[in-house]
Amino acid sequence: AKTYKIAVIPGDGIGKEVTPWAQKALEKAAEGVADFEYEQFDLGAERYLRDGAILPEDEEERIKANDAILLGAVGDPRIKAGILERGLLLKLRFDLDQYVNLRPSKLYKGVTSPLANPGDIDFVVVREGTEGLYCGAGGAVRRGTPNEVATEVSINTAYGVERVVRYAFKLAMKRKKHVTLVHKKNVLVNAGDMWQRIVDKVAEEYPEVSHDYLHIDATTIFLVSDPSRFDVILTDNLFGDIITDEAGAVVGGVGYSASGCINASDEYPSMFEPIHGSAPDIAGQNKANPTAAILSAAMLLEHLGFDDAAKKIHKAVEADIEELGSTVRTTDQVGKDILARM
Ligand code: NAD
Ligand code: IPM
Ligand code: MN
Repeated sequence: AKTYKIAVIPGDGIGKEVTPWAQKALEKAAEGVADFEYEQFDLGAERYLRDGAILPEDEEERIKANDAILLGAVGDPRIKAGILERGLLLKLRFDLDQYVNLRPSKLYKGVTSPLANPGDIDFVVVREGTEGLYCGAGGAVRRGTPNEVATEVSINTAYGVERVVRYAFKLAMKRKKHVTLVHKKNVLVNAGDMWQRIVDKVAEEYPEVSHDYLHIDATTIFLVSDPSRFDVILTDNLFGDIITDEAGAVVGGVGYSASGCINASDEYPSMFEPIHGSAPDIAGQNKANPTAAILSAAMLLEHLGFDDAAKKIHKAVEADIEELGSTVRTTDQVGKDILARM
């Protein structure tokens, strides 16, 4: 069997608590199918406080030399917001050109949704991952004065939009064949219009896939009033960030929400991580749900082509949630319970 190299970046807070379970699940699922060799990276808050390093070039090169990346979460209340988020996480997503941020939402049997009538929720958000307001274009002048001006510019390129639109339509072909473009084209007329035109053009190549459009504000309504209407939601970087946290809440909490930051051209490794953050409010208490991290390992396996191994994880998670989803358990207990079913 081929040996795959996996970079592991647990990061901060609960990232450190859930990532070992993702790694264990990966290892167990792939037993007899593939060999994995792990390289651990000490990156995040502790490292930054210790020696000021965020993502040294040589370490980034070593990360790039892996076949895939498993990441926990970054961010720490002791460090100014943005330093690690931009300097580590977004830097990796951008430098490794992970232009598809894939975020599935599924309501598992046994999970209590905050919705009275959730229906059959099973959709995936295809969030653009390398453009939009996340580019870091903009700046501040006269900082700290009454005349301060701060700007953030949303960059949208035809190239960047078209490649993620194509991914969404291709994905829809494997699902319920429906794409919903989410934007704010009634206000953001430049980018919104370009997204819509590119969607209309690509859609012509996929006559079996229907598509519609929703403004981002209305989308937040339908995510709670009628979430089962969605199949593939296609949107930009910031809108996708916001609605995937809402989607996580609707399916019982972000502790169940996995993601893949995909370089669909396979030029660089893709990265798999729960959508949630470092959760400083519960960090260090063995309370975080490791399911999202474990499901991220399943996404990693699917990405490398090991569908059966990924299914092992999905089956174990589904059974675990159905039987024990409503019980209060520690991080380690949930991890052990899921592993025991694999
Ligand atoms: P968060 O996702 O860390 O936490 C939001 C809420 O969800 C908290 O109440 C938390 O306890 C809860 N929660 C999150 N994951 C959970 C889990 N697995 N099990 C149970 N409960 C869980 O978001 P935040 O509080 O806005 O951000 C905290 C830090 O994390 C910030 O520094 C932020 O920048 C960073 N962040 C990082 C990532 C990432 O690395 N991908 C994602 C989001 C936020
Ligand atoms: C996420 C996070 C990140 C994002 C932050 C930490 C940069 O919120 O992965 O959802 O906004 O993409
Ligand atoms: Mn987010």
